[in-house]
Amino acid sequence: DRPLKVAILGCGVVGSQVVRLLEEQADDLAARVGRPVELAGVAVRRIDAPRDVELPAGLLTTDAEALVARDDVDLVVEVIGGIEPARTLILSALEHGASVVTANKALLAEDGPTLFEAAEKAGRDLYYEAAVAGAIPILRPLRESLAGDRVTRVLGIVNGTTNFILDKMDTSGAGFAEALEEAQDLGYAEADPTADVEGFDAAAKAAILASLAFHSRVTAADVHREGISDVTAADIASAREMGCVVKLLAICELRPGTDGPGGGDETVAVRVHPAMIPRSHPLASVREAYNAVFVESDAAGQLMFYGPGAGGAPTASAVMGDLVTVARNLVAGTRGVGESAYADRAVLPMGET
Ligand code: HSE
Repeated sequence: DRPLKVAILGCGVVGSQVVRLLEEQADDLAARVGRPVELAGVAVRRIDAPRDVELPAGLLTTDAEALVARDDVDLVVEVIGGIEPARTLILSALEHGASVVTANKALLAEDGPTLFEAAEKAGRDLYYEAAVAGAIPILRPLRESLAGDRVTRVLGIVNGTTNFILDKMDTSGAGFAEALEEAQDLGYAEADPTADVEGFDAAAKAAILASLAFHSRVTAADVHREGISDVTAADIASAREMGCVVKLLAICELRPGTDGPGGGDETVAVRVHPAMIPRSHPLASVREAYNAVFVESDAAGQLMFYGPGAGGAPTASAVMGDLVTVARNLVAGTRGVGESAYADRAVLPMGET
């Protein structure tokens, strides 16, 4: 059998780790998938940019569109991030018959249904475990393991940068600006930290979590959002006096309607904002840049998923897991569960809580 060919779009913090793992684990991957998995090419913005991984020059290209359109490419990994050109490239990859693995939370939260429909039409897989909470397996448990249960609430710390900042303020008494600077020095926060500190990143992840938890269609525009840039050292100190800690929470809830729990008029409400939680709550113990997602469901009760939510290697771990699943499906000539089954639940408009 011929090897499966993988194209990677982007060779930054995550992409370079995916390339490394593909190379280092080639033998194990071949055994797990049932066929060798080989790099077809890596699309980058600049061929001569410094990067964390050595690549044979012939594999690098600046023409991502030509790479995803190649007949021999079976699987495309998109780790560029942002809306465009990522959306066009993913749609093109699917149209050309490739399955796709992406870590792109912003795109999924803004325009997920367009991508899911394209995957459905192409009869290909679209997997995105790495889009929420880095290495933590949370999307597959919501989509698959808990699909026979009724999830009613998802509470998450899904942004590592803001958790680091709030934790720093709590432990050292630092103000917001000082803690942000430390997060930037350590490489957690971006040079432009707006997406993290104003809650856009967490809101995108909340939309994805709510969509899967409640089998509904929630986009970033449905999420009520408030960031942490107004949280002061005094707020943290008064929370402490009350036995609480301040966390940026993504809160996804299924609200019963007049027909009661399980009735057809349930609504979905999603919001992201700083919240005081008692120090005894399991989410209070999530320190530094870690993430955690707390899930409540009828039959399972309470579950907590915890681990590294950002960073190259942890995020690449989730990408690789998807890559193996999608590759196995390709070898078996099958598809994984798509996103087509969803309930037509109303989503509360942003701002209404
Ligand atoms: N900026 C994100 C965070 C990276 O801090 O959690 C992972 O999505």
